[in-house]
Amino acid sequence: MSETIVFYDAKPYDRRFFDLVNQEHGYAIRYVDAHLTPETVALAEGARCVCAFVNDDCGQEVIDGLADRGVELVALRSAGYNHVDLEAAYERIHVVRVPAYSPHAVAEHTVALLLSLCRKIHKAFYRTRDANFAIDGLLGFDLVGKRAGVIGTGKIGRLVAEILRGFGMEVLVYDIKPDQDWAAGIDARYVELADIYRQCRVISLHCPLTPQTHHLIDAAALETMGDDTVLINTGRGGLVDTAALVEVLRTGAIGAAALDVYEEESQYFFEDFSSQVISDDILARLIGFPNVLITSHQGFFTAEALEAIARTTLGNVDAYFANEALDNEVCYRCDGPCDKGERGRCF
Ligand code: NAI
Repeated sequence: MSETIVFYDAKPYDRRFFDLVNQEHGYAIRYVDAHLTPETVALAEGARCVCAFVNDDCGQEVIDGLADRGVELVALRSAGYNHVDLEAAYERIHVVRVPAYSPHAVAEHTVALLLSLCRKIHKAFYRTRDANFAIDGLLGFDLVGKRAGVIGTGKIGRLVAEILRGFGMEVLVYDIKPDQDWAAGIDARYVELADIYRQCRVISLHCPLTPQTHHLIDAAALETMGDDTVLINTGRGGLVDTAALVEVLRTGAIGAAALDVYEEESQYFFEDFSSQVISDDILARLIGFPNVLITSHQGFFTAEALEAIARTTLGNVDAYFANEALDNEVCYRCDGPCDKGERGRCF
């Protein structure tokens, strides 16, 4: 009999790509609309594997509930695992993820946000639909010759830096693990964070959310930026102190912001609230600014990336049930990507 996967927070697009790829795997996928929470954990009864996404709750209570019901594997269909209590899962439930699916998807979305914002495409779209062909108020600025700062030069940050170099921008970069050869190859320059804040017209965030990077962009950092700075965050919401960002936007101390992620996004993103009142005052305020562009964590959302996510996720599940090494495991002992024990698994 085929193994059952309980698939939380299933959206139509998830079903489309997982059903397609599952034709080659044959799992019994039980799709559940609800998020994984302490209240919905009982829906995993009878399955050895659950599949979860970024806004599912994988905290201690949920991990305990899954382990009590015999779940052995949490297959994350995301790269990020900051929402999983790895300590609670250690030696009870294996956690696997999709380390990379399409860094191009996120990098291209980052640049789409930047271009939309600096040429005010988001405003022009509504004007011309209303037969308003006036361009007063839509004045933009050239990217060529301007300085961009990229924080985090991993898979996504590098692509963003390379695309921006292609636009003729000067690119300054920062990473705790600099790769000087790569930077030299595209004529970018590693500098200190403070230099990026002070000197760059465009600042884009591509580091993971960790205790060290939580509120990396806080009031003090924002204060050192120019009043024409454009801040782009497609990394994680918690990288930015959003209340502090609202304050500098309100006073005009920063030029504009584009956000694909938001600190409190789990309550709203991926859902339709168009007929309801937004009770989150910070989100409501952000939406109201003319110089803010928000997308709902859709950086990853391309056909290529969704198919790659489904392939890697079901490949991870295959490896688990075949007792093979888990290349994409994350664990508490390694505080992230697992360096594996003898069997190629963290325990
Ligand atoms: P990656 O692991 O390839 O690169 C992350 C880079 O950040 C590494 O070079 C690392 O050394 C650096 N880093 C770590 N701590 C740092 C710190 N304190 N300061 C500066 N740099 C630091 O990850 P990748 O694939 O490039 O993804 C980056 C982030 O993008 C992910 O962590 C995730 O949060 C976000 N993401 C967003 C998506 C979206 O749909 N908006 C989709 C996928 C990822």
